[in-house]
Amino acid sequence: MKTPQMIRDSPVPLLLLLTGVCINGYKPVIIVHGLFDGPKEFQTMFRYINKVHPGTEVKVIDLYDNLSSLKPMWMQVQGFSKDFDDIMQKAPDGVHLLCFSQGGLICRALLSMAPGHKVHTFISLSSPQAGQYGNTDYLKRVFPDFVKKTVFRICYNRVGQKVSICDYWNDPHHRSRYLQSNSFLALLNGDRRHGKIKAWRENFLRIKKLVLIGGPDDGVITPWQSSHFGFYDSNETIVEMRNQEFYRKDTFGLKTLNARGDVSMCIHSGVKHIQWHSNYTVFRSCIEKWLT
Ligand SMILES: *[C@@H]1O[C@H](CO)[C@@H](O)[C@H](O)[C@H]1NC(C)=O
Ligand SMILES: *[C@@H]1O[C@H](CO)[C@@H](O)[C@H](O)[C@H]1NC(C)=O
Ligand SMILES: *[C@@H]1O[C@H](CO)[C@@H](O)[C@H](O)[C@H]1NC(C)=O
Repeated sequence: MKTPQMIRDSPVPLLLLLTGVCINGYKPVIIVHGLFDGPKEFQTMFRYINKVHPGTEVKVIDLYDNLSSLKPMWMQVQGFSKDFDDIMQKAPDGVHLLCFSQGGLICRALLSMAPGHKVHTFISLSSPQAGQYGNTDYLKRVFPDFVKKTVFRICYNRVGQKVSICDYWNDPHHRSRYLQSNSFLALLNGDRRHGKIKAWRENFLRIKKLVLIGGPDDGVITPWQSSHFGFYDSNETIVEMRNQEFYRKDTFGLKTLNARGDVSMCIHSGVKHIQWHSNYTVFRSCIEKWLT
């Protein structure tokens, strides 16, 4: 905020201030947190951004924190969309969106459902974009009595779909159950046909850049390639993004985006899941340059 003294001394910034134009030239950055975390975990990221781009407005949306992040994905999307719209409306030059882990899927849903959104760069920071299938501490915490082989039984029905991780649980051995019962990822990825897919694709494609970040030592996102839209086939062999059906059919615009040259992939080893947002090397090499 400018002090009155500074405003009096500089009539041009005053004018810019009154018209709401961003005077430092950096677009605001909206951050959406992941499972079991909240704004607190992004204080380091906040510092990194303001160190290299002083004065950047960074908004970590404070909703569905900690245990509330287990609420159904569509419910969270609805909640986040209000804040998302509000921040965007105050940013005539657009915004950037940086979304961590589960938040990366919330953000994709936000982008798909917001006609006329003004997001330039969408950074997906270690998000299970093609789904999740692994025995992790997170799974144990949510369903202590289940393992990856059995959790489809609880996830792939109406009750299970009320728990966020079930909304992107993608069991490669129970594909038909997934296609039938999943009410979130299967729609977002167009794995299951639905009437809004064309509109969602158009909205999503308004972004100028998609940045996918992840790596082999993540330890939570399983397979880790899901952070780059790769996933298991029924033999648990990795099928990379370009060979995924949703890519080939361009169901939500990923192929178009890539053909446009607007998908940037960043892979780092040696980074554990909860370190992605606080690792300066990752920030400098994968994030900084897109936040202008
Ligand atoms: C979430 O957890 C953090 C750290 O444990 C805590 O500081 C914060 O207040 C919690 N947020 C909410 C909304 O409960
Ligand atoms: C899975 O592996 C078996 C045996 O190696 C092979 O015959 C089959 O074609 C594989 N399936 C897929 C989907 O790759
Ligand atoms: C930070 O990232 C670098 C480069 O990818 C990696 O080698 C290092 O182990 C990471 N450090 C932490 C604490 O995650």
